Amino acid sequence: MDKIVIEGCHPLKGDVNISGSKNAALPILVSSLLADGWNSYSNVPALNDIQSIKLLLSHLGARVETEGDLIRIDSSGLCNHEAPYELVRKMRASILVLGPLVARLKKARVSLPGGCAIGARPIDLHLKGLERMGATIKLSHGYVDVSADYLQGEEIFFDTPTVTGTENLMMAAVLAKGVTVLHNSAREPEIVALAEVLTKMGADIMGAGSEVITIKGVSVLQPTSVSIIPDRIEAGTFMVASALNKGDITLLGCDPDHLEAVIQKLALTGAKILVDGTRLRVIGTDRIDSVNIKTLPYPGFPTDMQAQFMVLMSVAKGVSMITETIFENRFIHVSELKRMGAHISISGNSARIRGVSSLSGAPVMATDLRASASLILAGLVAHGKTEINRVYHLDRGYEAIEKKFERLGAAIRRVKE
Ligand code: UD1
Repeated sequence: MDKIVIEGCHPLKGDVNISGSKNAALPILVSSLLADGWNSYSNVPALNDIQSIKLLLSHLGARVETEGDLIRIDSSGLCNHEAPYELVRKMRASILVLGPLVARLKKARVSLPGGCAIGARPIDLHLKGLERMGATIKLSHGYVDVSADYLQGEEIFFDTPTVTGTENLMMAAVLAKGVTVLHNSAREPEIVALAEVLTKMGADIMGAGSEVITIKGVSVLQPTSVSIIPDRIEAGTFMVASALNKGDITLLGCDPDHLEAVIQKLALTGAKILVDGTRLRVIGTDRIDSVNIKTLPYPGFPTDMQAQFMVLMSVAKGVSMITETIFENRFIHVSELKRMGAHISISGNSARIRGVSSLSGAPVMATDLRASASLILAGLVAHGKTEINRVYHLDRGYEAIEKKFERLGAAIRRVKE
């Protein structure tokens, strides 16, 4: 398996292009199942998770063509209602096909995603919503079978805001009979992006981006063509890199509106942030101040930026507290950061970080997607050599990250094994 080797403490300067958003692209590619004919999607990032969803859509009977960052999908041939274990186990977001399959084929059989490194991550809210819309749910042999002659619009209350749960039910509801109202919906920009695509396809959706989304079912949708929004988590990762390394990095093609919580916290650490349309410049300073962070559903501070901020706090002046409220067990990067000299102690869902003057390079193991990004950041600021093993997590969600950092001046390389 490949590894990434970094010689730390090189200044980072220059421009970096932000890729299309993984978490927006996944549900949008899946939405192609809702209409016959060729859909076309541009600015799709080249990532392993995108590869996984393409494989799954092909398995279901769709025709998928890729040309650079452009993906075309025609699901007129949709014939298979089963998402098998081999495909779902690689990527939890495969569960997104559940709603569209029931809407189009009246049935779906999807392998249960099971636990993963960052917590239990159940799908009960996806299933409860579909059940409320009239579907029959059966769980057996590690699979969930969902069937419904038709889906009926309903009032659905999420116990907690769920991103893929909201997306799944939105896609189920666009072709349902009557009106569906989703209460306590997730408000992430990726939800708004999906709603915009569905609306272009002919769906009737109001309120995406707020807690209440109202969907009036229609009988048929048309294929469409759209460009994927920029990846706010990739953008946030480069912003932290600049703040961490006294860098001067300008992000090109990002959407600063989606990064408000990250911008505000980073500014409190002392970094200078200049926004100009879709350009965002971060200038790191000599002194990094400690800030406390609590992860929350959007528009709160994103859990997907928690590990990266922990690296920044590891070399900040003073003590900070990071509280993770979205996922249990999302501190698995802590033990690796401690091996690089960070002072972190965990109590329940909070981490107390006492900043140290420097980190030292070490061989480390990447454990999940965002934890992997945090180890790259730690390697960039650490003295000496850091070797990050098991980088397949990184390739799931960051497009050519080592090449982007290399262009900014980092001494970083991928070693093929
Ligand atoms: C999505 C993102 C992921 C991000 C997460 C939180 C994608 C592909 N992934 O994941 O990068 O970290 O949002 O911003 O977009 N929950 C339940 N029951 C359910 C569903 C969720 O209890 O049926 C709980 C989860 O355990 C978690 C919380 O709800 O505590 C939020 O999870 P959710 O928003 O569903 O995360 P994902 O959609 O899987």
